[in-house]
Amino acid sequence: MVETKVLKIKDLYNDSLEYPCEVLKSGNLVAFPTETVYGLGALATNPEAVRKIFEVKGRPQDNPLIVHLSSIDQIKDFAFMEERYMKVINKLTPGPITFVLKKKDNIPYEVTAGLDTVGIRIPAHPIAQRLARCAGPIAAPSANLSGRPSPTDAKSVIEDLNGLVDCIIDAGESAFGIESTIVDLTKDKPLILRPGPITIEELNDIFAEFGGVDYYEPKKEERPIAPGMKYRHYAPEKPIRLVNREELANLVNTNVLILCTLETQKDILQGAENIYIIGEYSRPYTIAQNLYRSLRYIDKSPYLEAVIEKFPEEGLFFSIMNRLKKAVSKK
Ligand code: TXA
Ligand code: MG
Repeated sequence: MVETKVLKIKDLYNDSLEYPCEVLKSGNLVAFPTETVYGLGALATNPEAVRKIFEVKGRPQDNPLIVHLSSIDQIKDFAFMEERYMKVINKLTPGPITFVLKKKDNIPYEVTAGLDTVGIRIPAHPIAQRLARCAGPIAAPSANLSGRPSPTDAKSVIEDLNGLVDCIIDAGESAFGIESTIVDLTKDKPLILRPGPITIEELNDIFAEFGGVDYYEPKKEERPIAPGMKYRHYAPEKPIRLVNREELANLVNTNVLILCTLETQKDILQGAENIYIIGEYSRPYTIAQNLYRSLRYIDKSPYLEAVIEKFPEEGLFFSIMNRLKKAVSKK
């Protein structure tokens, strides 16, 4: 066990990051906020430090980490980038998107789990950017124990990692609430490996001159291209199921917790007490923001099991359903 220092940030641009920066430079771990979810960071160029991430999270060894940089100009220092994609990458960064590129030699195989490609992300969050600027490239998965929902606030990070890391930076809630969209740019055509805040519809537009994007749906039997996608994820301990909106009415005032939208509660579940609102159907980003907090709430609630409202798989709902399907899949 180590003593975990929680560093509360009031001013995103001016509060000192000297302590977490020193922790990273000395080869230790810092949990930090990004605009998607909180990350558990180590200096990407230090293989020893990177190994600690896998130990602390209990992360499978074949699951590579994303490298966070402070600016677009740094990408060429760590990865090869095709000239034809420069304009699009410029348009999408900084932001909630990760590009898989061929790696350069200064990215150790500890980061990429032996792959010759590396996931690169330039987060828009000022703290993540400032930290990468002062410490260097930061390898970071989400700051949860392996298999648990990703943390979208410092409280959730503390639940999972208190006593296991030197520093947790608390800068409030993550804006998007689900992990970055991952696009593989090493193929002939851009390939979405993980849907996220930037939707497939948006990427089809942005990559139109390249014929749009393909979506990679991992099949159970093969080794997935994004190794992380094969694992059960985001899952509470208690049993959970996805249920069609209309069928939720059958569960009113039973011992099953119903996670649903505000609209569903108003339209068909009025008077039910066993309800937890996960956001507004008309504003899907509110559902993404609350998603992992809601999944974490299931185990804290007095109910023995939970059901979650099913959504149509388009736009941001496609990314939300991607996470929910993983959360309900069998152990
Ligand atoms: O929003 C995010 O991406 C957050 C914040 C902290 O940046 N990070 C995050 O990391 O979600 P993690 O480790 O929970 O998910 C990383 C995903 C995994 O599914 C992994 O397999 C995939 O990225 N990945 C990383 N490097 C890859 C590579 N070279 N090729 C294919 N997939 C890769
Ligand atoms: Mg994760």
